[in-house]
Amino acid sequence: MQKAPRENWNTKIGFVFAAVGSAVGLGNIWRFPYLTAEYGGAAFVLVYIVLLILIGMPVMTAEFILGRGSGKSPVQALIQPGENNWSGLGYLFVITGLGILSYYSVIAGWTLRYSFESLSGVLLAVDPGDHFDQITTGTTSLMYHIFFMLLTTGIVLGGVRKGIEQSVKVLIPLLIALIAGLGIWASFQIGAVDGYRYYLQPDFSELISNYALYLPGIGHFSISFLSLGLLAGAAGQTFFTLSLGMGAMITYASYLPRKDDLIEKTFYVSFADFGIAFLSGLMIFPIIFSFGLIDRVGESPLGALFIAIPEAFQQVTTPIISQGLSFIFFFALLLAALTSAVSLLEVVTSSLMDELKMNRRVAAVSGGLACLVVGIPAAFSLDWLGMADKIAGSFLLLVGGLALAIYVGWIMKEPTVELSRGLKLKMFVKPWRFLLRYLAPLALLAILSNFVLNFIQELF
Ligand code: PFF
Repeated sequence: MQKAPRENWNTKIGFVFAAVGSAVGLGNIWRFPYLTAEYGGAAFVLVYIVLLILIGMPVMTAEFILGRGSGKSPVQALIQPGENNWSGLGYLFVITGLGILSYYSVIAGWTLRYSFESLSGVLLAVDPGDHFDQITTGTTSLMYHIFFMLLTTGIVLGGVRKGIEQSVKVLIPLLIALIAGLGIWASFQIGAVDGYRYYLQPDFSELISNYALYLPGIGHFSISFLSLGLLAGAAGQTFFTLSLGMGAMITYASYLPRKDDLIEKTFYVSFADFGIAFLSGLMIFPIIFSFGLIDRVGESPLGALFIAIPEAFQQVTTPIISQGLSFIFFFALLLAALTSAVSLLEVVTSSLMDELKMNRRVAAVSGGLACLVVGIPAAFSLDWLGMADKIAGSFLLLVGGLALAIYVGWIMKEPTVELSRGLKLKMFVKPWRFLLRYLAPLALLAILSNFVLNFIQELF
């Protein structure tokens, strides 16, 4: 594979921080703990870890191979001399990135607003439910969406080293410190233990579903099997949280030098992502249980984040402490969302640079503007936002992941040659190839079929 000259990360750890920054986002701090509690606590964590290792990590390594091997953005990376042109998949990645960032930025805008309102004390003086209903849609939601897109575009404008690498090296440690600090505070609250129990006590019955079947000659019967809904939930979460299936990791890896060990990097990024998600649950559930707000969680996952948490902090009687805690929480969310948004915009920006020969400044501003405009409906309608999340944030990521596994597993010539460069433990090559060629596509196909069937059922 020919490698184009390209800007590189300044330090080894710079890439890891940036990739962790992309992976760790709203998906970790809320979605993971929420799904875990919903699907049977520790039992779900086990299924999730298995899927992470068997599907998520092999696909991540595949993205790294494609990115570093080509040194190009996703569209160009999929055009290799002597191979069929797969650039269509690259375009799908760009569209998915744009689709995700358009609504992700609206939600991140709310976290920005909540950070300000925690500091000013406004958030602690209102009814959190009414407040959430008022601010999520309308012109102020649009204003914060614009504000957040400006922040994101500003970082991407700075380029890979000065913009992305410098900022994530500060933001990620700060994020971990904030979550850990809040977690420690939460552990001292009365009732915290009930939160841990709800979060982690395994309920294996959640893993199994009964399926009613009919076979001619035998008639109706039912079988118990691993719940497909749960598997789909866990797989969707794996892709979303690891930023897979839309070229973010291809793009970041395109700035990697050849001597780095790609499997080692995959381990670092996926376990850091899992660790932060797990830690977030250890922070959130004690807070929710100590203040008796678990019923709020059932209402709507997003609502619970923006309603239950302020309601909990309102019950802390010293204003300065409640304001401080609330600020720390929403500011941590904001940081997590920002480093993820940067990676989404970098996919669009680097593709515009490579495809249309734009310079970084024009490409970042055009990409940012496009996301801003596409996100306008999400700032005015929660239904639209939810639909965009389903289509871009779940379905298209899984389609992208499936196509990518097929491309790197079956079509690309000698992906293992690129993988072997800088690889310390060669024994990983064969299992990686097996998982990418067989298990990942089959599992993704099954999950996508389930997704489509559910979607059709919902329609009628
Ligand atoms: N991984 C991010 C999260 O967990 O919030 C979301 C995301 C970022 C998805 C970048 C996809 C992506 F390319």
